[in-house]
Amino acid sequence: MEPMLNIAIRAARNAGNIILRYTNRVDTLSISKKAQNDFVSEVDKKAEDSIINTILQAYPDHHIMAEESGTKDNSNSIYQWIIDPLDGTTNFLHGFPQYAVSIAITEKGKLYQAVVYDPLRDELFTASRGSGAMLNNRRLRVSNHHGLSGALLGTGFPFKQQEDLDTYLSMFRAVFPMTAGIRRPGSAALDLAYLAAGRLDGFWEIGLNAWDMAAGILLIQEAGGMVSDFSGTQNYLHTGNLIAGNPKVFNELLKILTPHIPAHLQ
Ligand code: IPD
Ligand code: CA
Ligand code: CA
Repeated sequence: MEPMLNIAIRAARNAGNIILRYTNRVDTLSISKKAQNDFVSEVDKKAEDSIINTILQAYPDHHIMAEESGTKDNSNSIYQWIIDPLDGTTNFLHGFPQYAVSIAITEKGKLYQAVVYDPLRDELFTASRGSGAMLNNRRLRVSNHHGLSGALLGTGFPFKQQEDLDTYLSMFRAVFPMTAGIRRPGSAALDLAYLAAGRLDGFWEIGLNAWDMAAGILLIQEAGGMVSDFSGTQNYLHTGNLIAGNPKVFNELLKILTPHIPAHLQ
């Protein structure tokens, strides 16, 4: 296996163990508020420190972009690690069992390796550019559902940037009646991993951060799925707006959502 992916897996499993240790002790944690509806606990920080230590022991000059501690890029390495130590913090803090560790590596700015790890179910989703995506030891493939009719979609609500709520609701109204259902589980990294695994047929969300989606996007691409921002281009890590799906669902979803997207989200 690719050595960098091995280190990413080790880092994700260590972080998963830290998260599990606190799962039934959430009431003892110190929690602070970063912004409206945006919380961080000492578990997010401990998990992130452990991931960064594991990476820097193996690759001391690599760049790091991590949700809680920011960006470190003081070398001219071609590699950057994009880390969300706990994706689904609100779920975790409520004891709602849906959260994960997400770690991606880019090479010269292109997604290269990815790990999404669900410690509760011990599900390890991995991808290497050009070599496919795996769940534990099984190869992943997106679903072959034909189009939106009868499809199961995932999404995220714009709970932080509520100025986009009306836009979101008009997108929802356009898509919902065509589908078999829409889920909002609360961890974008897992939503994208589930799409790669064929458990969801499509997904969209406004205003994600790079660390929420980088690993999940490579999983989808390597499982045969498609991903774009709201303009149909590949600028999602910067705009934060994401549409994804198996190829047939993706094209229809992009077409249905496009008329509802205001200029500032394109
Ligand atoms: C959040 C989750 C959620 C998504 C939010 C993210 P966090 O990440 O991925 O599903 O809707 O946009 O911020 O804050 O729990 O790491
Ligand atoms: Ca996140
Ligand atoms: Ca997080």
